[in-house]
Amino acid sequence: MSDQNSSRILDGVRIGAAIQAEVAADIQVLAARGIRPGLAVVLVGDNPASQVYVRNKVKTSAALGIASEQITPDPAIPTEGLLEIVHGLNAREDIDGILVQLPLPPQVDARRLLEAVAPQKDVDGFHPLNVGRLQIGAPALAPCTPAGVIEILRRSGIAMAGANAVVVGRSDIVGKPMAALLLRENATVTVCHSRTRNLGEVCRTADILVAAIGRPGMIRADMVRDGAVLIDVGMNRVTRPEQFAQFFAGDPKREAAFAKNGSVLMGDIDPHAFAKASYYTPVPGGVGPLTIAMLMANTVRAARLRRGLPVA
Ligand code: GUN
Repeated sequence: MSDQNSSRILDGVRIGAAIQAEVAADIQVLAARGIRPGLAVVLVGDNPASQVYVRNKVKTSAALGIASEQITPDPAIPTEGLLEIVHGLNAREDIDGILVQLPLPPQVDARRLLEAVAPQKDVDGFHPLNVGRLQIGAPALAPCTPAGVIEILRRSGIAMAGANAVVVGRSDIVGKPMAALLLRENATVTVCHSRTRNLGEVCRTADILVAAIGRPGMIRADMVRDGAVLIDVGMNRVTRPEQFAQFFAGDPKREAAFAKNGSVLMGDIDPHAFAKASYYTPVPGGVGPLTIAMLMANTVRAARLRRGLPVA
């Protein structure tokens, strides 16, 4: 890879660290007033990816000075039991943020549970009140991953106003809030999904293309306009040798990793498309680090809002 190529990488590790440093400084400001933001993370079941995410959330909280706790009820807990836990956290004065890690086991009514989280403590931005506020452009706690994408674009000087933004994926966690946030930044937004006709044609109109589908390498080079900004929210583990070869043959670093681990992580964008981009986020090291940084930022924001203190 040439220097020219690497200069186009949007470095999520660096941007995430910058946001964390700002949050840590704000936590010191609050500490001087006797305030310590508190975050509760509820993890149900033994999903290995969720366990890693939650461990990182708790660890990062501690590093920044947020009082965090992990609640791990019995995996068979019914919805009512979880509602009781959430109601308890809603009532606690020392808790500013509540996060229920998804996915939840099948016996749990996820929608009922997310609606039980007090909107002012909803640091994931999943409560319908925050979803609605985001849609009308009112101040809200916004979902962490799409909010992180906006921070990457803003801090990299990428113009959103007037840009054609195409979001591929319509999930409640990423695609839909991503579209709302880009619209708030005055982009012209198109949302694509599994039933979209002529997906490639629509993607080729994008100045900014956000892929949040959950299928490895689904956005191919021929679907990307020269000079587009590519944002890859996907995080997929590739284990099949032929699939690995399709995306990474001739990449010595990835070949070594695949030989060693039997798998590699990749996004929803075929790496061959990156050569056409003006800027792109790598996987890993792109959008991922922003999710945690924005969770920390949302927790401090919630702590300020709940006390009537100003927010940036
Ligand atoms: N699972 C995958 N992403 C997320 C997220 O942003 N928040 C929660 N609560 N669960 C997730």
